[in-house]
Amino acid sequence: MRRIVILISGRGSNMRAVIRAAQNEKWPAQIAAVISNKADATGLAYAAEHGIPCVAISHKDYPTREDFDIALQSKIDSFAPDLVVLAGFMRVLTTPLVTHYAGRMLNIHPSLLPSFVGLATHRQALAAGVKLHGATVHFVTAELDHGPIVAQAAVPVLEDDTEETLAARVLEQEHIIYPHAIRCFVEGRLSLVDGVVRIKQD
Ligand code: GRF
Repeated sequence: MRRIVILISGRGSNMRAVIRAAQNEKWPAQIAAVISNKADATGLAYAAEHGIPCVAISHKDYPTREDFDIALQSKIDSFAPDLVVLAGFMRVLTTPLVTHYAGRMLNIHPSLLPSFVGLATHRQALAAGVKLHGATVHFVTAELDHGPIVAQAAVPVLEDDTEETLAARVLEQEHIIYPHAIRCFVEGRLSLVDGVVRIKQD
């Protein structure tokens, strides 16, 4: 069984989609823990109800970003993960931590990367007037919202979209592509060729 640790900061809807898919599709993997940098993250309660070990570790208890990341890494490693899944974990990670999990840390970003890195991606998309927007699952590298792309989904941008309606349309797709990408990882179907992700079909 592969061991997955999920990091969240808030509502955890992607985390829920992953937990559900892992159980329903009987992945050769278990969710070893859910870790949040916010004790009041609503996703923690859901994970706890599902019998998953939950940990809150606040960045506010550490003087520097580096100190927090050292503590976070040691907490993550105490669950011996094969894969670390960032699911709405709202922290910029330091290079040593990212390097430590090279090739075994995934993130989902609500845009079609490499467009619209950073925050407020739906606002950025509306301002740019793109007609397609979406979400990307990628391996985490030291550069924010970059790294080899595992999966993407596109949605249309409609004339009367607001940030909220567009976000909701994208989120629906996130809940499909993130579990799919993670399943491919735990089934050993992902490989990197010249910095590009290849996926072996079932
Ligand atoms: C998602 O839109 C994800 O793409 C981004 O943060 C949001 C987290 O939502 N990284 P949730 O906590 O999974 O509901």
